[in-house]
Amino acid sequence: MDMARSPRLQAQLDQQAAHFTASVFFDWRLLPYDVRGSIAHVTMLAEQQIVTPEAAEKIIAGLEQIRQEWESGQLTPRLEWEDVHMNVEGRLAEIIGPVSGMLHTARSRNDQVALDMHLYMLDVGEQLKWGLLDVIHALLERASADFDVIIPGYTHMQAAQPVLLSHHWLAYKSMFIRDFERLSQWRERTNYSPLGAGALSGTPYPTNPGRTAELLGLGHVYDNSIDAVSDRDFLLEFLSWASLTMVHMSRLAEELVLWSSQEFGYVRISDAYSTGSSIMPQKRNPDVAELTRGKAGRVIGRLQGLLTTMKGLPLAYDSDMQEDKEAVFDVVDTMNSVLIVVSGMLRTLTVNRDRIAKRLGNDFTAATDLADMLVKSGMTFREAHHLVGHVVSALESVGKGFQDVDANWLKTVAPQINPEWLKQLSPENLVEKRQQPMGTAPKRVKEHIVATQKWLADQ
Ligand code: ARG
Repeated sequence: MDMARSPRLQAQLDQQAAHFTASVFFDWRLLPYDVRGSIAHVTMLAEQQIVTPEAAEKIIAGLEQIRQEWESGQLTPRLEWEDVHMNVEGRLAEIIGPVSGMLHTARSRNDQVALDMHLYMLDVGEQLKWGLLDVIHALLERASADFDVIIPGYTHMQAAQPVLLSHHWLAYKSMFIRDFERLSQWRERTNYSPLGAGALSGTPYPTNPGRTAELLGLGHVYDNSIDAVSDRDFLLEFLSWASLTMVHMSRLAEELVLWSSQEFGYVRISDAYSTGSSIMPQKRNPDVAELTRGKAGRVIGRLQGLLTTMKGLPLAYDSDMQEDKEAVFDVVDTMNSVLIVVSGMLRTLTVNRDRIAKRLGNDFTAATDLADMLVKSGMTFREAHHLVGHVVSALESVGKGFQDVDANWLKTVAPQINPEWLKQLSPENLVEKRQQPMGTAPKRVKEHIVATQKWLADQ
């Protein structure tokens, strides 16, 4: 019997059309989930006396064997069986004979494939959760290790005000904690079983979809059979989550590319995460960071692709929806590898303290604080802002910084500024003063580190 071909269709499927429509070469990874779903389904069918216990037992034993064959790599996908679901059923028929035909009672591939994707995605979510926690951990390790380092913070990519490097790392940590929370919330919304929807309308058999969900450890059953087979929100939401997480990864990667350049030289990405050039012997290229940034484009593209596929589809199942697989699997694999390499790259990079200190001593990132001192002496902030701007431009024209100011010179340029104040403008003093909540004062940053350690311990 040709499993995938109904007698309704007389001619053989064209060979090119077979390749075009088959999903078995990319949905093969769903096999263990398909088997799990089928075992739960047939168990429920037996409990409801829709199939005999003997038939269920045979089917379950056959399915277990198929899972083992898959695990040991003995089983190969067969094109003539189109997709993973028909491959399992076809192989089951080879192992246990005609009784295998009872498995698909009260079920359609439409609710079956939706179930497989739910089960797979819940596992993926668990895996990615640990990967993301590891990145958060790596950032926290950096925040502790680099606690003594002050960098110029930037706005408009222009040196703005000094901040603790730890504070900067922790900003990424905060983004990834939001991503982590979004992932957990997404998992709750994915924890639904579509099984029992049949092709689209439910089933006339006395099934018990709640029981199947329970056997699979799923928290809920869809409340509408049409939605159950048409819904790919959980995949679109996953791709949205991945896109946003990759936007964060990409911003971090971009900073590492920039900071490891000769022009900045703030960090050195370890050899283990750098590559050479085939022509320029001196090169240490930040490929891992660049490709992390690059893969953000790929992930966002996958989201756009599936959104576009879904947007015009009438209810209920349409074959277009098979396109979800390659998009989602590609993103799952990409996310898994990005999380691993980013945490490794963070853990192994070195911070060039001398270079950063030299850079910070030579800029005007203390200008806001100098203006604040004038405000304390009674000037309005706008006036103070203007006066300091004037001083900065005068110093710049003679190639000097605040630290080289001569008291007599200052008297002629800005008599309102007490030369003593300039001594209080060290980066250490400036960060120390930012004691308000969420500020970069070491005391606040230390608290932030401790709070994050606690958060991590609770996960
Ligand atoms: N391979 C299909 C998919 O991935 C399975 C569902 C097919 N259902 C159908 N009625 N053709 O979407």
